[in-house]
Amino acid sequence: MLFILPPWSLTETHLAPEQLGLAHARENSIKNGIPTIAVSPTQGKFLSLLATMSSANYVLELGTLGGYSSICLAQAIKERGGKLTSVDISSDRRQVAIQNLQFAGIDVPGEADVLLGAALDILPNLANEIETGTRSAFDFVFIDANWDNQWEYFDFAVKISKGKGSVIYVDNVVRQILEAGIIGPEKKDEEVMPLVEKVGQDNRVDAVVMQTVGAKSYDGFLMAVISRQVVFISL
Ligand code: DHB
Ligand code: MG
Repeated sequence: MLFILPPWSLTETHLAPEQLGLAHARENSIKNGIPTIAVSPTQGKFLSLLATMSSANYVLELGTLGGYSSICLAQAIKERGGKLTSVDISSDRRQVAIQNLQFAGIDVPGEADVLLGAALDILPNLANEIETGTRSAFDFVFIDANWDNQWEYFDFAVKISKGKGSVIYVDNVVRQILEAGIIGPEKKDEEVMPLVEKVGQDNRVDAVVMQTVGAKSYDGFLMAVISRQVVFISL
């Protein structure tokens, strides 16, 4: 027998009621036609606690959408003087995200910057800036962009991470398998989960996939921690 959580969540009712800034981000995103696929308040709180637990200062987000998770991450690092850098390919979404961040009390671009472009174009620029000392390496990377290039994003994230202890969190690794309808006993793991297979063979990181069920139905994320000192190599 499988028990599924009701659509309400104990986190939202008791531990972390959705703040005004986040409720505004959700409503303003809908008003501007942004798909309602942002993280749930519970997932947002979880991300924010992870950023706090890892004492992250420099956080990178791939896939800003309407800035809901950006607000959660930026708020967590704000008191340490940290900075979120978020990347999105849509200038419309970027504009809405900036409005939402500012409404939530985040200074843009001081506390959170939203870069416009495809992640695969932006990542080499970030790497060059880190290499030349004009940007700090990242200690927390949240990958929540299109699902086709997840391994490339992950590989870059390791390279532009500060090093041992840095965290990489990849959203939706279970949802994408379920939506593709390619899970099943006749399928081998390596056929359906190229990201997970590659991460498993990657001795730079220690990682886990956690399955989740809640307001966003069945899903799961991959979380990796850099397990050894990364020597920054020119890309
Ligand atoms: C969906 C959820 C996500 O977190 C995402 O990044 C993309 C799509 C969804 O609910 O379909
Ligand atoms: Mg997502």
